[in-house]
Amino acid sequence: MINHSSSLGSTSTSGVESAILLVGGFGTRLAPLTHKTPKPMLKVAGIPFTEHQIVKAREAGIKEIVLATSYLAEVFEPYFGDGEKWGIEIRYAVEEVALGTGGAIRNAASMITRGGPVVIFNGDVLSSHSLRGHIDFHQSRSADVSLYLTEVSDARAFGAVELEGDAIRTFNEKMENPPTNIINAGCYIFNREFIDAIPADRVVSVERETFPGLLHHGASLYGYVDRSYWLDIGTPAALQNATRDLISGAAQSDAYELLLRSGSHELRSDSLIATSAQIATGADIRSGNYIGVDVIVHSGAELSGCIVLDGAVISAGTKLDSSFIAEKCIVPAATIATSNFLGF
Ligand code: GDD
Ligand code: MG
Repeated sequence: MINHSSSLGSTSTSGVESAILLVGGFGTRLAPLTHKTPKPMLKVAGIPFTEHQIVKAREAGIKEIVLATSYLAEVFEPYFGDGEKWGIEIRYAVEEVALGTGGAIRNAASMITRGGPVVIFNGDVLSSHSLRGHIDFHQSRSADVSLYLTEVSDARAFGAVELEGDAIRTFNEKMENPPTNIINAGCYIFNREFIDAIPADRVVSVERETFPGLLHHGASLYGYVDRSYWLDIGTPAALQNATRDLISGAAQSDAYELLLRSGSHELRSDSLIATSAQIATGADIRSGNYIGVDVIVHSGAELSGCIVLDGAVISAGTKLDSSFIAEKCIVPAATIATSNFLGF
């Protein structure tokens, strides 16, 4: 078993101890995976995505996290409880009707018990960005709000930012002709009064309303540019890439390190395999697979880039490429599938 609360060795001295995790989106582009599981609870390298972020926050000295939930809100609490298992306080702010990113931040902040700036994470970004570096940057610039930024080749699907030095001059959410390729990478630090100024009890987009409004009113917004590994896990292919990149070491995650140290999983054939899985000698496990707890893979099966969830059975002679196999799904013999969803 993974020892969730064991730390990789950090203590907080920054005075930034609170975080909000935005986990209320519908995950539309991930259907059918998100029909019963909200996007942030989908597994990446065998661990619900939110858990990667919670452990990352803890390692940067965060002591309390509010999960801002809406779609399938009831799925989070049975798994994370009060957070004790992870050595961090976890609370839940449920939106009956989704309030948008800004509305969710305002709503969740009412459950924060500590003073000081608040870290906010989009619930779907895997990154190697240094949260401690970002916190130090926020404080050294005396920023009102600071944004983690990265560079992409095509910024149209993101929030593009214009910088002057490291001060943000404009914020442009999803446009046909973005002015730069420097984008909002989905992690912010807000001084508390700037959260309290967001209107309560209505839909607010932090990207379309709050950031442009703050810039218009002369608030000091700074951009912390970090070009290390970054991925929005919002599509099935991205979700598979996230697992593949953790296995190859292209991406880093504290939770993944702890999982490997726990001995419950091992790396074999460039795949992450639960030690309880039974893999027949004649099975061909190629690279980039996650093979979950108690999975059975029969002889002659061929797997490449697949996510095989707990208890699934892969029968003889199947050839599966870049596909998702649901928990306890029995894949019939000789099934051939590419980029498919089996048992969802
Ligand atoms: N609680 C709550 N309520 N959470 C929400 C809501 C809501 O109404 N709407 C969205 N979220 C959460 C989503 O679950 C996700 O974790 C995060 O807010 C961002 O929403 P997405 O729907 O994933 O937005 P996006 O990927 O199109 O764009 C955002 O992320 C990009 C980086 O990946 C924006 O922040 C862009 O500016 C940014 O570049
Ligand atoms: Mg997203």
